[in-house]
Order: sequence, then C-alpha cells, then structure tokens
Amino acid sequence: MLVLILLSLVASSVSDTLICTNGFTLVNSAKCLKLYSIPSRHRYAEDTCGSFGGTLVTIRNAIDNRAVSTFVGNTGLSYWIGVFCLSNDPSTCYLDDDQGTASAYSNFAGGFPNVDLGGCVYSAASGTLAGKWISGECEDVEMAFVCEIPPTRADPCAHNYNGYCYLPSHENATSASLPFTSAQAACHQNCAELVSIHSPRENAYIQNLYSTANVTSAFLIGALTTAPLTPYWIDQSRWDYGHVSPRSGSSGSCFQMSTGIDGTWYQVDCKASQYFLCKRPTGTVCNSTPPPPVIVTPAPTNPSGCNSTSLFDSGYITSPSYPSTLPAHYCVYYLSTLGAYRIGLYFTEFNAYQSYTSVNVYDSNGSRLATLTSSYSPPPTYYSTSNKMTISSYVSNSVGYRGWAAKFLSF
Ligand SMILES: *[C@@H]1O[C@H](CO)[C@@H](O)[C@H](O)[C@H]1NC(C)=O
Ligand SMILES: *[C@@H]1O[C@H](CO)[C@@H](O)[C@H](O)[C@H]1NC(C)=O
Ligand SMILES: *[C@@H]1O[C@H](CO)[C@@H](O)[C@H](O)[C@H]1NC(C)=O
Ligand SMILES: *[C@@H]1O[C@H](CO)[C@@H](O)[C@H](O)[C@H]1NC(C)=O
Repeated sequence: MLVLILLSLVASSVSDTLICTNGFTLVNSAKCLKLYSIPSRHRYAEDTCGSFGGTLVTIRNAIDNRAVSTFVGNTGLSYWIGVFCLSNDPSTCYLDDDQGTASAYSNFAGGFPNVDLGGCVYSAASGTLAGKWISGECEDVEMAFVCEIPPTRADPCAHNYNGYCYLPSHENATSASLPFTSAQAACHQNCAELVSIHSPRENAYIQNLYSTANVTSAFLIGALTTAPLTPYWIDQSRWDYGHVSPRSGSSGSCFQMSTGIDGTWYQVDCKASQYFLCKRPTGTVCNSTPPPPVIVTPAPTNPSGCNSTSLFDSGYITSPSYPSTLPAHYCVYYLSTLGAYRIGLYFTEFNAYQSYTSVNVYDSNGSRLATLTSSYSPPPTYYSTSNKMTISSYVSNSVGYRGWAAKFLSF
C-alpha cells in the first residue's frame, strides 16, 4: 500500500513538471519564451506567435521584465512586447492576452507611452534605456520579437498545448471523417473528447494545426446547440469563449470550425460525416477499455438529475436519495437528445414501497408510457418515439427500500 502511494506520488510529480514545446524556453517556471531576432513588423510578429497558440510576451511585473531582459540577453536587440496603447495613459495599454492593462505594471521610459509615435510597444535592449518600454509605429518599424506560449506537461502526443493533447482525425487514416456520434466515440477510444475551445489563443493554435496540414476546409468541434442558439461544450467545460460566425445559419445542432482565415464556427448537421478534432489532458494513460459514457450536458447541480432543466444524450439518473428513500421526494427529469435520435430509458433498479410510490414515464408527445408503483425484477425499459422523454417521480419514505436508478441513451 505504502509503495503504491509512493509510486503514485513520484508519477504525479513527474507528470506535473512543466515543459515547453516547439523550441521555446521555460523562464521563471511560468512562461515559455522564444526570441525571433529577424526584424519584423508587428502584425507578422503577432501572427507568428499566434500560430503557436501564443502572443507577444506579456510582462506583468518587475520580475517578468527582468526575466525577459535576461532572456534576450546580450543580443543588443530591441524587441516587440505584447502591449498595445490606445492613448498615452497606461491604463489604456492592453496586454496581448486579453488579461488586463498596463495600469498594474508598466516600465515605460520617460515621456512614453506616446501614441503619436505608434500604439505598439517595444522594449529597448541596451544602453541606459535597457528594459524600458518605448512606443513604435506598428507597421513601419521592424523589430525582433519575443513570443510567449503557455507551458504544458510532457506527453508523447504530436500536438501538445497548454496541458492538452490534440488529435486530428486526418492523422488517423482509418477514420478521418465521421458523423458526430461516431466521431465522439472515436475520441472516447483515445480517452479524449471532441475538442472544446476556451480562448482566442487556443482557437489560433487549432486553426494553425489545420492550415499547416491543408487537408480540409472545416472540421467538427465538441459543441452542440439547441434552438434558439444556446451552445455548450459536450465535455461539460464552461462556455467561456465563443467564436460562432455571424454568418452561421440556424440549422444543425453541431458545429464545425472553418480552417479559413477567421477560424469561425458554423452550425452543421450532426449526421454529416466530417473531419474532427479530439482533445485530452496530457498524461492520460489510455487502456483498451473505453471510458463509460459521459453525461454530455452541463452537470446537474443535483447528481441524481432531480428537477434538472434538461439532461442530454446519455447519462444516469436516480431517485434523489438513492439508495435510500428517506426523505420522500417529488422530482421531474427532462431527457432530450438530438432531433434525429430517440431515447432509451433502462431502469437498473426499482425498489420502492407500493403505497404512495408513483413514477410516471412520458413520451415525447406527453403521452404516458408507464406508471411504476412498487418493485420490479427485472427492472423495465422504455423507448421514446422522438427526441424527448419526461419522468415524474414520487417515492414515499419507507425504511429498507432503495428507490430507483436508470440509465438513458440516445439511439
Ligand atoms: C484511429 O483509428 C482507430 C481504428 O479505427 C480507432 O480505434 C481510433 O479511435 C482512431 N483514433 C482517432 C483519434 O480517431
Ligand atoms: C492546399 O491544397 C490545395 C489542393 O489540395 C492546393 O491547391 C493549395 O495550393 C494548398 N495550399 C497550401 C497553402 O499549401
Ligand atoms: C422538484 O420540483 C417540484 C416542483 O417544482 C418540487 O415540488 C419538488 O420539491 C422539487 N424536488 C426537489 C428534490 O427539490
Ligand atoms: C403520442 O404518440 C403515440 C404514438 O405515436 C400515440 O399513440 C399517442 O396517441 C400520442 N399522444 C398524444 C397525446 O398525442
């Protein structure tokens, strides 16, 4: 036992070690930096950093500033940094990563920022101004530049970014193009999920994966929507960044990302076969048994699913205090799936005291499929005729009874 604990401690400390990919260097155990010494315009510098899912280096404090100056070292080069000023007030100088302004920390030389000289900012490398920030004209001035990408953790996968591995289907000749449900299953085979995207940097990283490969103009991502547009990620992560094209039509519950210039997302029919992108945390060891089906909805706050607004696609629901019936509860469960599919409700246990227990299963059109009132062996199964199913459940409080549990699946 102790050996196992020690082994797992060693394993986790190894996998928690931060590394940098793509020839970047870990600086201050927090930033991955790379110096490009060929003088370039600001837009080219930003695009170069963006293709790695990064930005021009962001400097938030004196420690960062010193670390970056030291990193550039004795090259004698001035270099673009990730700040852009709208006016001469540092609180209007925005950091490239969208995470604040230079009002908290800046190191402008006297008389700067000065947007008459340009909104872009570079750091002087040598002389008395070494490490000081100076305004420069973005498209007229050419400078060396320093890119910053987030550190990640070691993993043998080919595309490793910010703690995740990205698995494009076209790198897998056997199943490059699949409809949504099969694509999701293929991701699960690799202990991954269809990709969720959480920042413009991550979107740019992914876009670059595909524009470099030049194999498709669009591919499936792991978002679904109901109508009207209320998209969510099937890996249950927060919808904290959205990039849906203003031109996206209103048909289709799935989304594809365009590999074109703006990398926007379009609604698409889930049944269409498409290239797709899977994502998994780095360090995931995938054994041959696929993981159990995931409840692909924002997780209900109540794990039983009681009174959830909607449970999607597949999952597990129970009476509220299962495996006990104390106290008595009344609950409603709303199940739904994509329009093309039906729902199967498979009770795995139904064990309740006959008096007062009443569990009703309703079909998509509201007609009642069953009323369950006691204990059933084997427990029953019901199918919806369309893409919705509703269960209302009153289970009386009776000592020694367990209540009920059920799995549901779309098919
Ligand atoms: C690659 O193909 C194999 C065989 O069809 C499949 O088991 C696996 O899930 C696929 N991986 C991806 C990422 O699609
Ligand atoms: C991408 O592929 C198409 C045809 O497959 C080709 O015409 C085009 O030049 C390629 N683009 C790049 C940037 O390689
Ligand atoms: C579920 O909702 C019903 C109706 O709104 C309410 O009567 C019941 O107490 C709720 N159940 C729980 C466990 O909160
Ligand atoms: C619901 O659909 C079923 C099966 O098609 C049908 O028998 C039933 O009458 C319908 N009920 C209502 C309320 O429309």
